[in-house]
Amino acid sequence: NHFELINRLYKEQILPKEDFIRLIEHRTAEDAEYLASLARKEAQKIYGTGVFPRGLIEFTNYCKNDCLYCGIRRSNPNVSRYRLTEEQILSACESGYELGYRSFVLQGGEDPYFHDERIVSIVSAMRKSYPDCAITLSLGERSPESYQALFEAGANRYLLRHETATEEHYQKLHPEAMSLARRKQCLWDLKKAGFHVGTGFMVGAPGQTAAHLAEDLLFIKELNPKMVGIGPFIPHHDTPFKDEPSGTADLTTYMISILRLMNHHLLLPSTTALGTIDPNGREKGILAGANVVMPNLSPIDVRKDYALYDNKICTGDEAAECVGCLGRRMESIGYHLEFSRGDYREYL
Ligand code: SAM
Ligand code: FES
Repeated sequence: NHFELINRLYKEQILPKEDFIRLIEHRTAEDAEYLASLARKEAQKIYGTGVFPRGLIEFTNYCKNDCLYCGIRRSNPNVSRYRLTEEQILSACESGYELGYRSFVLQGGEDPYFHDERIVSIVSAMRKSYPDCAITLSLGERSPESYQALFEAGANRYLLRHETATEEHYQKLHPEAMSLARRKQCLWDLKKAGFHVGTGFMVGAPGQTAAHLAEDLLFIKELNPKMVGIGPFIPHHDTPFKDEPSGTADLTTYMISILRLMNHHLLLPSTTALGTIDPNGREKGILAGANVVMPNLSPIDVRKDYALYDNKICTGDEAAECVGCLGRRMESIGYHLEFSRGDYREYL
């Protein structure tokens, strides 16, 4: 086992790249259980056994990008494209608010239709109607001015996964028009604009090695985000990666535990993708040190069209069903949903 390495990570909250690689490549079931037990304990010291739900509103599946892994990539002609109106978005928030949500995430493809003026209007309306809620955006790469305007309109947080911190690997996953340098720059711009920033990556993305994962961890240490979203890569049948294998729940939960030990305060979602590859994936994520879930609040008739990968769960369920289901799932492992803004806790 690698308990000595794990103890060092626990104490120093970082390891040299070579040690991260060793910890990932040569992991054992014993290592995973030990890591998870430390990660859980640290998460509970700061956040107790509460898990923060964020209501996810997938407001557009138009995208100008062509990421090779993603089901809603521009060159997939089989997507039935939709955009929600401002009214539809606000009404999704309204039903979420009634169910208890105090934290909303607006996510979409990179859709030029939602230029600054449109999205600022939506965020301002959300802020005005729900002054007590946290608003998180996940709209991809934009200009520093755009980020500034969105922050001033009342958004608090922004999720932008870096996807992979290794240049060659980034090029394998994205068309030439996209660059890791720009992606990283956006993350720094978001911080500068005042956002609480979330980044992250897919586990088991095609071509990914332990060295790539180690680079991801080192980049995250440098960026020092408040949130890190990781989930397994899952193939989508209409993409160039359709025959690639999915990432595993084991490695995903292992990475969740490592991230928790690198920053005990982190907001770490147990993702829908993790719940998709394993029927108890979300519970396993929480037990590995995650403390956030992001159930879907989008109108039911568009959910199946926001298919980033195959077999996504909860695409046919009412928002109310997901709250009940997730609440029971959390209780089955000794946790509970905590309906609050779910802010990052700096202090114990
Ligand atoms: N367009 C915004 C962006 O790029 O940040 C937000 C939406 S994007 C679809 C959200 C995330 O979905 C990406 O950061 C990516 O990691 C994840 N994703 C896309 N395709 C996936 C797949 N096949 N399996 C697992 N996750 C995937
Ligand atoms: Fe949606 Fe279980 S979380 S039905």
